[in-house]
Amino acid sequence: MQNKVPIIILSDNKQTRSVLELYLSAFEYFEVADEFPEYLELFDNISSCDKSILIVDLSYDADTKLAFISDVTQNIRNCRVLAVSDNPSVDLIVRAIRSGAKEFLPLPLIKTEFVETIIKLNESLYSVPKKNTRCKIISVFSNKGGIGKTSIASNLALELAKITKENVALLDLNFQLGDITTFMDLKPSFNISYMLENLDKMNDDFLLSTMEKYRQTNLYVLADPPFFKQAADILPEHITKLFSMLKKTFSYIVVDAESSFDAKNIAALTESDLIFLVTVANLPALRNAQRCLELFERLGFDCNKTQILLNRYMENDEVSIDDVENVMGRKIYWKIPNNYFTMMSSINKGIPVSDINPDSNVAKSYRGLALHLTDSIYRDSLAKKYENILK
Ligand SMILES: Nc1ncnc2c1ncn2[C@@H]1O[C@H](COP(=O)(O)OP(=O)(O)O)[C@@H](O)[C@H]1O
Ligand SMILES: [Mg+2]
Repeated sequence: MQNKVPIIILSDNKQTRSVLELYLSAFEYFEVADEFPEYLELFDNISSCDKSILIVDLSYDADTKLAFISDVTQNIRNCRVLAVSDNPSVDLIVRAIRSGAKEFLPLPLIKTEFVETIIKLNESLYSVPKKNTRCKIISVFSNKGGIGKTSIASNLALELAKITKENVALLDLNFQLGDITTFMDLKPSFNISYMLENLDKMNDDFLLSTMEKYRQTNLYVLADPPFFKQAADILPEHITKLFSMLKKTFSYIVVDAESSFDAKNIAALTESDLIFLVTVANLPALRNAQRCLELFERLGFDCNKTQILLNRYMENDEVSIDDVENVMGRKIYWKIPNNYFTMMSSINKGIPVSDINPDSNVAKSYRGLALHLTDSIYRDSLAKKYENILK
């Protein structure tokens, strides 16, 4: 028989605690742990448990409790957290889930819902963790070279891996002219061609061992093929197949797309959930970007799917943000500051800016972009999941 799983309740409200204890008394395989006056003591107690469930009431002093949830979930593997609150909002739910809580319930609790949630949390303590986000494919595109695509794709992918701790794939689709491996100083043993040749044999483990892991992160890189012949053999349907396989393993796929509208690239853009169209604030570049938007429209892409990233942005630029938005007829999704020195030293050393100079304005901007992106994805999925509470 399995040992009883301790459930620790952290609530300032005696009544809430009694209700929880009452509901939990129906289970014979849980035991409610004593109260702990100090966070430190509580933390030590949770660390000493083989497995545990922590219920945190965020109705009062949410900030301290969220920080505690982060501490616990980052440091203790086998503790699942359920957050509850008498004042649920999308903001609070996003913060709770980002801190590491697995589930969120509003107070007062509905018994059946609570019981289901506790059972689910308990099961997750005994099962292999699954990827918890539906895969999002994000392509970074421009029909001109030298605009900052590879810089953005590689730094965004790295930040996504660091923030979400989920598996992120970075794909170089610049067949033959790719430079992600140079940007990240990687010497991959395999490339896209190898993966395509072995698609039928691929499973999770084979896939992850074929891709090049970047340092101690969850970022996996798939490089462009080194020989022209190999690149020429790749067909649009291969790209579609490749994505459908990667989607099973990765939470995010970031694509450094080719600067062209050839069939392979269109296949990649079509598969994408989001396309970042990169431009800079000068008239030729903006005209170019405008033409891309027109083409995206003709390809039937939803206008929410195509978003503008303004690269090398300068505060006192002759062409202002308003000018850019007027010319494009669209809002700018994100702007990345101009920082020639940091970008060059990052490329020359083969170390992404978030590792080489995390306090630089560019690194902060890439991190902000990744956070903004995951936040809106979290918000959408959480808003859907919790729509009953939030009405
Ligand atoms: N935000 C930025 N500030 C200054 N220079 C940048 C910035 N982003 C990219 N660059 C520079 O622009 C050049 C082209 O960048 P790269 O990412 O290789 O573009 P692409 O992949 O579109 O060809 C590189 O020398 C890079 O250092
Ligand atoms: Mg490039």
